Amino acid sequence: MKVGVIGLGTMGAGIAQLCVEAGVDTVGREVTADLGERARDRIAHFLTRKVEKGQLEQEARDAAVARLSITTELADLAGCDLVVEAIVEELAPKQELFAELERICRPDTVLATNTSALSVTEIASATSSPARVVGMHFFNPAPLMPLVEIVRAELTGDEAFETAYELAGRLGKHPIRCHDTPGFVVNRVLIPLLNDCVRVLDEARVSVEDLDAGMKHGAGWPMGPCELLDLVGIDIHVHASEALYGKLREPRMAAPPRLVAMANAGLLGRKSGRGFYTY
Ligand code: 3HC
Repeated sequence: MKVGVIGLGTMGAGIAQLCVEAGVDTVGREVTADLGERARDRIAHFLTRKVEKGQLEQEARDAAVARLSITTELADLAGCDLVVEAIVEELAPKQELFAELERICRPDTVLATNTSALSVTEIASATSSPARVVGMHFFNPAPLMPLVEIVRAELTGDEAFETAYELAGRLGKHPIRCHDTPGFVVNRVLIPLLNDCVRVLDEARVSVEDLDAGMKHGAGWPMGPCELLDLVGIDIHVHASEALYGKLREPRMAAPPRLVAMANAGLLGRKSGRGFYTY
């Protein structure tokens, strides 16, 4: 099997890492060679850490890195059996990409999107073969989080849906099946919950550290909500909240002003060096 991953940011690089670790030949596409090489370095780094920690043999690590080819040309994805899109969370560029992929790939290639808050059905509508379009929603950090939501859009065919489900299993993930509704399963619950956490910060006049301690030690979360927002990216979370609010019109979905101000100020979390915490 050959998989293509388009967009090698945090999510795309994580997905590509999972594929090569699972023995799947993988073509990763970025817009510039430099961004592509940076993603390769990041993947190689995490695989090296696994060797250092005794979780992976050196030869297996080298073979995994060798399974990854990086390109800037979409045409190089022509031979893929399944392509996962993980580019910017905007509808228009995704639709344009899927229309292009339909031209480039074989008719039986499954076209999957890792979108977290957009409609898979709307993305699929840019193609004339929506039966092969499916959602494969990984969680951040993709190499560590076991869940993948396999999302059935209105016109997704059984074959594409089951191919995506099987691939998730082959990557060592725990796939779940769901339909294309705003936020799917987890983000439909998690996004308003994180927004509530931020509102509580101000309402209860609790410190960031104490709120995180509260949810870790009182609710069993593996990391506190502020740590998690810093991990996900404040801008990504605000964007996803706005998308869900736009669709569901529920006030809890709307990003709290505090988060919007942070995003506008460039306090994006781990990736910018500063969010709720300083890194
Ligand atoms: N790829 C590969 N390996 C990675 C990695 C990555 N992206 N990030 C970290 N690692 C490795 C590191 O090498 C690290 O080891 P090292 O520090 O020795 O090098 C190793 O993973 C373990 O890291 P930690 O010790 O920090 O691992 P923890 O046991 O603390 O678990 C966690 C980390 C899995 C992130 C855990 O804290 C957790 O489950 N947090 C919650 C995350 C969560 O809820 N994610 C969902 C976000 S919502 C979302 O994604 C939806 C989307 O649509 C926005």
